[in-house]
Amino acid sequence: MITQSKINKVYKITNDHWRLLLLADPSKQLVHEYLQAGKTFDVKKDNQPIAIMVLKEISRVKLEIKNIAVDPQFENHGIATRLLHFAIQYAKNHQYQQLQIGTGSTSFKQLYLYQKLGFRITDIWQDFFINNYDHPIYENHLLLHDMLVLTMMVNIK
Ligand code: ACO
Repeated sequence: MITQSKINKVYKITNDHWRLLLLADPSKQLVHEYLQAGKTFDVKKDNQPIAIMVLKEISRVKLEIKNIAVDPQFENHGIATRLLHFAIQYAKNHQYQQLQIGTGSTSFKQLYLYQKLGFRITDIWQDFFINNYDHPIYENHLLLHDMLVLTMMVNIK
């Protein structure tokens, strides 16, 4: 079953990885920047990557999921849920206190999924997508302006 496929650490980013990364973040430049500093994981089917996730340390206490994407052919099979559980466990194991994820205010599916797993909205970066992307992004028939930041507290004593 796909949802039980292994989560692998990625050491070399291939074109197939790029195709997935750009589904979650259309800015090649921003992706490039966080790939350098982050840790990347993938899920494969028949030796091809079908899902990806990039984790990056923001501070000693905060880890961020910078990018998570699943091949459209394999969406809604629980693969992102599995990767998010992996990220939560990774944050706990590495003694971070907060796990953060940002998404567009128009990303209804993503907002559902992250809040279902326990992330709470903690910040709004107004006009983030207007100021940081060179073209307008439309999603669910809406022009995307704002980034919502969601946070999960982990390792609370
Ligand atoms: N509105 C609300 N919920 C929805 C919708 C919708 N339109 N469509 C599906 N769902 C639900 C599903 O029913 C499921 O919930 P359930 O388990 O309670 O039934 C859930 O959303 C999807 O869960 P998964 O199957 O685990 O998620 P999936 O493997 O499909 O991956 C992801 C989700 C990563 C958002 C995928 O759709 C994707 O790659 N999208 C494009 C890239 C993207 O937007 N990535 C995230 C950007 S933010 C960032 O990268 C930090």
